[in-house]
Amino acid sequence: MIEDSRFSPPKPVTPVNPTTGRREFLKFLAGSPLLAALGLPLSLRGQYLENNEMGERLITEVEEALNVFDFERLAKDKLPPAHWGYLASGVEDNATLRANREAFKNFHLRPRRLVDVSSIDMARTLFGIQWDSPIFLCPAASQKAYHPEGEVAVARAAKSQGHLQVLSTGTTSSLEDVNAARGTPVWFQLYTQGWEITRSFVDRAEAAGCPVLVLTVDQLRPHQNSETQFRYIREDTRSCIQCHDPDDRLRNKRMFDGVNLEARESDRDQLTWDIVGKLRDITDMKIVLKGIVTREDAQLCLKYGVDGVIVSNHGGRAQETGWATLDSLPEVVEAVGEKIPVIVDSGFRRGTDIFKALALGATAVGIGRPYLWGLAAFGQEGVERVLELLRLELELAMMSVGARTLDEISPQSIGRH
Ligand SMILES: Cc1cc2nc3c(=O)[nH]c(=O)nc-3n(C[C@H](O)[C@H](O)[C@H](O)COP(=O)(O)O)c2cc1C
Repeated sequence: MIEDSRFSPPKPVTPVNPTTGRREFLKFLAGSPLLAALGLPLSLRGQYLENNEMGERLITEVEEALNVFDFERLAKDKLPPAHWGYLASGVEDNATLRANREAFKNFHLRPRRLVDVSSIDMARTLFGIQWDSPIFLCPAASQKAYHPEGEVAVARAAKSQGHLQVLSTGTTSSLEDVNAARGTPVWFQLYTQGWEITRSFVDRAEAAGCPVLVLTVDQLRPHQNSETQFRYIREDTRSCIQCHDPDDRLRNKRMFDGVNLEARESDRDQLTWDIVGKLRDITDMKIVLKGIVTREDAQLCLKYGVDGVIVSNHGGRAQETGWATLDSLPEVVEAVGEKIPVIVDSGFRRGTDIFKALALGATAVGIGRPYLWGLAAFGQEGVERVLELLRLELELAMMSVGARTLDEISPQSIGRH
């Protein structure tokens, strides 16, 4: 059972520090009618935080975090506005981003009493490998924008906490370094780039021992209408050149090292189902499609021999469908039956969220932003604590409904309001 360090007495509140003082001053400025009269932008502080109800005090040590939102607020405080904007952004009105969170409220747990829950086992097997928990780390590009150790720090945390990690095509650490830090090969997420480059990525991932290729199919163009991100970029007075060349964004992307960029074309909006067969012809890795949200596409996945699906809307950052993944999950589960694993991500912030998806038939649940908040806040340690908190919360949810293993979680474990 997970040690419950959350219930140790809270630490005394630290005296006001210069950062807090600055925050207070900015808050005062943001509310000042003078700024509005001058037509200057109001501070974006407080906006686009997923959980705004926690007061202003930031945690200063990793152990102080009571839930993943404590890391969110610290990440926002620490990161340059442009990087925070990239991390937080949905698209357009952020309707899909919000829908992902709102959907959890439509379900409740159905507690059961007098079950011996002294031992909880949340092990889950995926493609023949047993994991200690069904929670995994989603692919996310550019992790050095949050911490200098980026994906390698995440890999160390995934190793120490025993979680599956999926590495993005947009990784800022080399795949081989990440695998070395993780100890076993990660799953590799693929964005196609034109066949010659795509093939080089697949070959490299296979040579590095990656067992699973995750083809993301929901982001049709490399750049979306990420309005929140664009607003934060406008607030950022730094020169981007400090971190990366805005005209050469691939320079920090390690998968592109040594690649003939002339062969690069963004072909995502021309992808069709034929891609599955083309990939199958060049690799023995399992092929998982990320971004499937309808029963029709789930059935096509079976037809084309896909090995697994990830029900995902990219955390609300790809398309403004306004449709939560928790609400698309049941029809995908129904269409697929038990033939292949149905994994889900987007909006998971609590153990109870994860529990609800498992009750609706998900095999495993991915998190994106929460571990990036942990990374930005405290590096490896922050990611570790995010994972620990989510496992602890999932364990409590399982105990509440008397489920001692994941197989004992069923549709009867939850109800709909
Ligand atoms: C900053 C950021 C970068 C991302 N980059 C990728 C990526 O390179 N490839 C990909 O398939 N998904 C990417 N995603 C989507 C995640 O894999 C995942 O679907 C999403 O974050 C889950 O939602 P959540 O952030 O609400 O947990 C990214 C997400 C974020 C927040």
